[in-house]
Amino acid sequence: MIGELYEEALTGRRVEIEDGAGRRRPLPVDQWRAPRPGDAGLLARCAGPVLDVGSGPGRLTVALTERGVLALGIDVTEHAVALTVAAGGPALHRDVFGAVPGAGGWRTVLLADGNIGIGGDPAALLRRVAELRAPDGRVLVEVAPPGAPSRVESVRLRTGGAVGEWFAWAHVSADDVAGLATRCGLAVGEIWEEAGRWFASL
Ligand SMILES: C[S@@+](CC[C@H](N)C(=O)[O-])C[C@H]1O[C@@H](n2cnc3c(N)ncnc32)[C@H](O)[C@@H]1O
Repeated sequence: MIGELYEEALTGRRVEIEDGAGRRRPLPVDQWRAPRPGDAGLLARCAGPVLDVGSGPGRLTVALTERGVLALGIDVTEHAVALTVAAGGPALHRDVFGAVPGAGGWRTVLLADGNIGIGGDPAALLRRVAELRAPDGRVLVEVAPPGAPSRVESVRLRTGGAVGEWFAWAHVSADDVAGLATRCGLAVGEIWEEAGRWFASL
């Protein structure tokens, strides 16, 4: 995800994700650029201030800001942060595992678009975002549909002859999110589906 090829994808170049078995699928950057079916229920559950972790080009940060909800996007990709700021959403170039402003005070932490996969260790990520949220705050996480396997895969980006570095990405099924949350000191409040996308409030 991270790196030069992801930045190129954000500029409109067709980039693919390749897994360890050599299977390739398009990186769905277009889905992250404009409102997606399923966003409505997610946005409606966001109480500010909201930290949008891995905010990408920023459609959720911008949508919240336009609604008057205080929101901040953070992303390790500088170009993604620049796109968010240009679109009118506050965003910072930050790693979720590094120093994040307002730690311990975010009423909602968002892990949308499969961002539970960041770092390839969903338990480490959930423990980290649990530290970032306010004591009465929630983590809203997009998960894979029931029946889909939870797994960690090694993937890399490629376009034409160029290939990026391998990195780990995780997938968590709706079936497994409650057990994972419990191991991280969180609890599932709600699981919902909208437009074929699955979400959990922790
Ligand atoms: C699936 S895309 C998210 C798309 C985004 N939700 C949107 O609305 O456009 C994953 C994003 O996570 C970012 N990311 C990856 N590792 C990260 C980390 N450790 N901290 C913050 N952001 C990270 C990537 O740069 C990428 O923009």
